[in-house]
Amino acid sequence: MSELTLLHKLARSLMTGQLRAAADPHRPHWHLAPPVGLLNDPVGFVEADDGYHLFYQWNPLACAHGAKFWGHWSSTDLVHWQHEPVALLPSEAYERNGCYSGSAVLHQGRVHLIYTGNVKYDDGSRTAYQCLARQIDDGTFEKLGPVIDLPDGYTGHVRDPKVWRQGDHWYLVLGAQDAQLKGQVLCYRGDDLQHWQLLGELTGSGHNGLGEFGYMWECPDLFELDGSDVLICCPQGLSPQGDRYQNLFQSGYFVGQMDYASGRLTHGEFTELDLGFEFYAPQTTLTRDGRRLIVGWMGLPDDNEASQPTRDYGWQHQMTCPRELRLVAGRLYQQPARELTALRGPGTRWQGPAEAAPLLDGRSAELFLQPQGHWQLTLGESAWLAYVNHTLTLCRRNWRTGEWESRHWHGELMDLRLLLDASSIELFINGGEVVMSSRYFPGEAVPLGWTGSAELRLEYWPLSPCMLEWATPMS
Ligand code: FRU
Repeated sequence: MSELTLLHKLARSLMTGQLRAAADPHRPHWHLAPPVGLLNDPVGFVEADDGYHLFYQWNPLACAHGAKFWGHWSSTDLVHWQHEPVALLPSEAYERNGCYSGSAVLHQGRVHLIYTGNVKYDDGSRTAYQCLARQIDDGTFEKLGPVIDLPDGYTGHVRDPKVWRQGDHWYLVLGAQDAQLKGQVLCYRGDDLQHWQLLGELTGSGHNGLGEFGYMWECPDLFELDGSDVLICCPQGLSPQGDRYQNLFQSGYFVGQMDYASGRLTHGEFTELDLGFEFYAPQTTLTRDGRRLIVGWMGLPDDNEASQPTRDYGWQHQMTCPRELRLVAGRLYQQPARELTALRGPGTRWQGPAEAAPLLDGRSAELFLQPQGHWQLTLGESAWLAYVNHTLTLCRRNWRTGEWESRHWHGELMDLRLLLDASSIELFINGGEVVMSSRYFPGEAVPLGWTGSAELRLEYWPLSPCMLEWATPMS
């Protein structure tokens, strides 16, 4: 479809849908969500001369996956965001079924996007091109076309390029499925952003002692952190093992050492990034002050998507908050980006037995808890949290079946940070050693109700909206 036709459809979709989407009581106050339509992966996350840019996989035409666009937000403080012109529309033959996920780098003073052109054929087969685009003076993006074709020995599932600079070269990792239907990560090296040489498989099923490890790995991201190399990736096809791999698809990491000459990563075991219900396809970036930030999609491509209540309002899914990463004793810790404290309203401090805790409003808030003993916290009627017998349980009502379902973490709880928004919960356990992210769909009021014998030390802040154009005070 031509770019002009796609723009006409996009404009109509926004004109007819934006007010309805904004009226949804489940619409986030301070998380990023699409104005209309369906959002999935965060892409092209980068800090440029004029501030942060975060792009997103976006189907503005329907609450369904399909031919994705790249939506675009910018921010000077990582907290307050504004809409930018849509960056990529799937108008060319080499991307006709979607401008799929990818990354952004700064080159010659301009933001460059490297993304996957997704092409599906009538017989059900598909191919993929890795494509380049560069920002021009008016802020829009000029497409430079495919720079990597489908490599031999892989199916059409080769996508999600993440590019970085190391020494005198560019490097790129790609999610891939090999001809034996095993998930892999490919590594390329380039002298410039247009010419790439395939070095080989960075890691994947059958490498580093992994054996069978899924039929496809999506959204790889490789970076150096605190003296090690970390690979984040999303393997599809792992079976649940006890409390591990509870969600349909996984998002996790390996810690190891990269050999840049061969393009191979030697690494240890796979650890999930998040133990909640919804976290997928995250992307990191390095800030100018040297921090590694991560943002994830607070969603999962699975059958529950089709019954999410926000679809009645014509929009679907949101991002997680931006988080800072650290590597401590081989484990990734995640903490809300320090800038987020700018969203806090006047705070409340309280200490005493859990059952006497004050009634607080959980619609858009941050809580920091240092509890001793057993406690339970209800978040309206649709979710609760409890810490009993060294187990933290996050329980929510499944919006498709109406049944309660839970996720667990076992360990000694020292502190807990809760970030609450209209339809999401992010839990940071023990300084970010473990994180749980989940959507939930409460009624309009979310009273926080405490029970239990624990002695609580609690801090609470209401949080203000994050979209510059839509900033309206909460009633
Ligand atoms: C991950 C993913 C990517 C793909 C994109 C399409 O959620 O499937 O692999 O590029 O979404 O929107």
